[in-house]
Amino acid sequence: MTTSINYNEKIPNNVNLSEDRALRRALEHWQPNYLNWWQEMGPDGTGNYDVYLRTAISVDPKGWANYDYVKMPSYRWGIFLSPPEQDRKIHFGDHKGEDAWQTVPGEHRANLRRIIVTQGDTEPASVEQQRHLGHTAPSLYDLRNIFQINVEEGRHLWAMVYLLHKYFGRDGREEGEALLERRSGEEDNPRILQAFNERTPDWLAFFMFTYFTDRDGKFQLCALAESGFDPLSRTTRFMLTEEAHHMFIGESGVSRILQRTCQVMNELKTDDPHTLRENGVIDLDTVQRYLNFHYSVTIDLFGADESSNAAIFYSSGLKGRFEESKQDDDHRLREDWYGVLEVRDGKLVERQVPKLNALNEVLRDKFITDSIRGVKRWNRVMEKAGIPFRLVLPHKAFNRKIGSLAGVRISPTGQVITESTWNAEIDSWLPSVSDRAFVANLMGRVAEPGQFANWIAPPAFGVNGQPADFQYVRFD
Ligand SMILES: [Fe+2]
Ligand SMILES: [Fe+2]
Repeated sequence: MTTSINYNEKIPNNVNLSEDRALRRALEHWQPNYLNWWQEMGPDGTGNYDVYLRTAISVDPKGWANYDYVKMPSYRWGIFLSPPEQDRKIHFGDHKGEDAWQTVPGEHRANLRRIIVTQGDTEPASVEQQRHLGHTAPSLYDLRNIFQINVEEGRHLWAMVYLLHKYFGRDGREEGEALLERRSGEEDNPRILQAFNERTPDWLAFFMFTYFTDRDGKFQLCALAESGFDPLSRTTRFMLTEEAHHMFIGESGVSRILQRTCQVMNELKTDDPHTLRENGVIDLDTVQRYLNFHYSVTIDLFGADESSNAAIFYSSGLKGRFEESKQDDDHRLREDWYGVLEVRDGKLVERQVPKLNALNEVLRDKFITDSIRGVKRWNRVMEKAGIPFRLVLPHKAFNRKIGSLAGVRISPTGQVITESTWNAEIDSWLPSVSDRAFVANLMGRVAEPGQFANWIAPPAFGVNGQPADFQYVRFD
């Protein structure tokens, strides 16, 4: 296999699709259904826009992308796998030391399919969640960035559908159709995971989503990149190269909002939220409340703190840990323990459980450590501006809907509280109706090259060496 991608075929790929006629036909049958989904649920009203997008031209980590104007419905979505590793072995769980699987082991088929479908479902879901945001982009630079994310999430769906079609026969094809039928937030046929049914109604929400929820994507993909099922590992490894940029957009987007707010705070010598709002910037308390929401909703995505499924996925070699090979242990974990939280006598306490059952918590904790780094970088914006306010991640037990913490009320600082305290404080902890209305009111499309909405600073750099005032999107 080469690292370059064949663009001469209807479906660009580096998996010799032309040699597998049945598979090619199945995917060519799915392709128009995908395009219909994109028309219906992709970025609203954008079919004629020329967007300065990157397209993968190789899976070589150095220089895999090409940048050019593309109309999104003509984006070359395709199937790109990282190159195979010679003699790759399974390196964790009960099959540790055996050759990695090139086909689906019968006894793990149902679990593997479930893992792939669950991952695949998040990809179109986020496109659906973001489909109206183009109307209120704060600049052409930001407009181009959201479209870049959208087309790549579309490609991530292709990545998972390829696995379903190639390795799961008829039920794989049925799952491929169902992935185009579920809809984010729809009551009758929602997306599988709750964070992907929440609304992403404004750009502060969008940047928080791409910072936190795309980072969940990174951690899930890293865990799947360890998989003993080699095609899943190779697919997710290439997806990860695309994911890095999504998190960058989130982190830099929030930074630019903070920068602008701090600038106005210093100009007006005030930290009064009302004054700041009157001057058209987002007060820092509101940013903190959005952070609290997106963070807590996202850490639920890792699943219940104790999970026998997580143990099975690991022991059977389907899903590893984050950076499995860097962990200094036996990679079977049968003797190991790990702490999970529960409420006892009105307090949060840690309880030791078999580590195999706590692997969701293990991954969540890695995610939290990684999330803290960006929050520190956000706080440097305030430091530099000489403003004492600091953003913090809320306690991991705050606002949880999944696992043993689902039924209890915990404050952002980790105190167990009553329902009535919760109700009294909720509007200072999570975005209130009026916060959301304020932010929604600020939104409005800025479409002049080099112009930025009042509530956000320009980026430090443009895309692909282009200046910030580049015409990143041309309208019809
Ligand atoms: Fe993705
Ligand atoms: Fe992403």
